[in-house]
Amino acid sequence: MKNLLILIRNKLLCVSYIFLLRPVLFCFDPEKTHDFITQVGVFLGHHAFTKWKTKLFFSFFHPMLEQNILGIHFPNPVGLAAGFDKNALLTDILPSVGFGFEEVGSITGEQCEGNSKPRLWRLRKSKALAVHYGLKNDGCEKITSRLKGKNFKIPIGTNIAKTNSPQTVETGAGINDYVKAFSKFTDIGDYFVINISCPNAFGGEPFTDPEKLNRLLKEIDKKETKKPIFLKISPDLSREQVEGILEVCKHHRIHGFVCSNLTKDRKNLKIKDNINYFKGGISGKVMDDLSTNQIRLIYQRTRGKYIIIGCGGIFSAEDAYKKIKAGASLVELITGMIFKGPQMISEINRGLMFLLKRDGFHHLTEAVGTE
Ligand SMILES: Cc1cc2nc3c(=O)[nH]c(=O)nc-3n(C[C@H](O)[C@H](O)[C@H](O)COP(=O)(O)O)c2cc1C
Repeated sequence: MKNLLILIRNKLLCVSYIFLLRPVLFCFDPEKTHDFITQVGVFLGHHAFTKWKTKLFFSFFHPMLEQNILGIHFPNPVGLAAGFDKNALLTDILPSVGFGFEEVGSITGEQCEGNSKPRLWRLRKSKALAVHYGLKNDGCEKITSRLKGKNFKIPIGTNIAKTNSPQTVETGAGINDYVKAFSKFTDIGDYFVINISCPNAFGGEPFTDPEKLNRLLKEIDKKETKKPIFLKISPDLSREQVEGILEVCKHHRIHGFVCSNLTKDRKNLKIKDNINYFKGGISGKVMDDLSTNQIRLIYQRTRGKYIIIGCGGIFSAEDAYKKIKAGASLVELITGMIFKGPQMISEINRGLMFLLKRDGFHHLTEAVGTE
């Protein structure tokens, strides 16, 4: 009976979002819409009553989906990916929206205005977004003071990147910038993500180079923290590049990977929109298979040694399940929620429960990497 009510609730929310709210939101500039939705989220997160109401609309819980990973309890495997809550303003409301965890950031050593506007586009035919934010964020100092002493209801990942500025292009300066932000968060949040794959910043992605990555991770190793550390990588890396990164990671305190960040490849056949009217990296359905293939490669190469967070083009429970069977223990998303609405989180969790039961699994962990 409860399941049926949740199904009806989700269907009503889905129809309302797609036919009423989305047409209005999509009339406005994507960045302005994003900022407006963030303000709504901040408001809803400020009051116990609005949080409770939000939970009533969006929550879903099932013990088959709960996991303890690296000492962290995840109430469900669906998280919000980095980039939606760059300044960690939504940590109070996201548990009520049904997320099992959240990655805040990317956060950099210094405050950063990002690239010039416009810097966000909807690629409607491709079911994707083009992102050229260039790591806009308030910087590690402001964001730590916002989060210090907070009691989080879901695990929080702090995604650290290098400040987007000519001053951090030199390798040593870039490493110092990462280390500055990293040091600020050693005891805030539950896990780290080191983002070495921002497609839109000064100096490109230098830390995909094994030697530079080794230097960066050596400095990170010196910092005392109990938090697990993930590396977020580009979906455009070749097999050899991924293997190079895995070889380096063997020698450092790396617990897992986030696969993947945005793709830069304009020749991707899944791009159905005109490529001349946007800049930056592309999310959503355009990179779905790229990220799943990368999850599979890392899982198989390392025989499940690392925890993988799958990310890219998740619009349904089937999409999430594909990544889990390829080797992901957790998944995260942004684009699917923008195209299909926030009830999608609960739909994915509910759908996962049915898919696991259909395939004879008693718990999500049994399905990881079984492809
Ligand atoms: C608007 C936007 C901003 C993003 N900013 C960041 C960022 O600051 N740091 C990061 O690691 N990834 C960032 N990403 C990439 C996402 O975290 C994610 O890897 C990518 O969007 C694929 O997931 P999706 O298809 O579910 O959106 C951003 C994505 C979007 C759409």
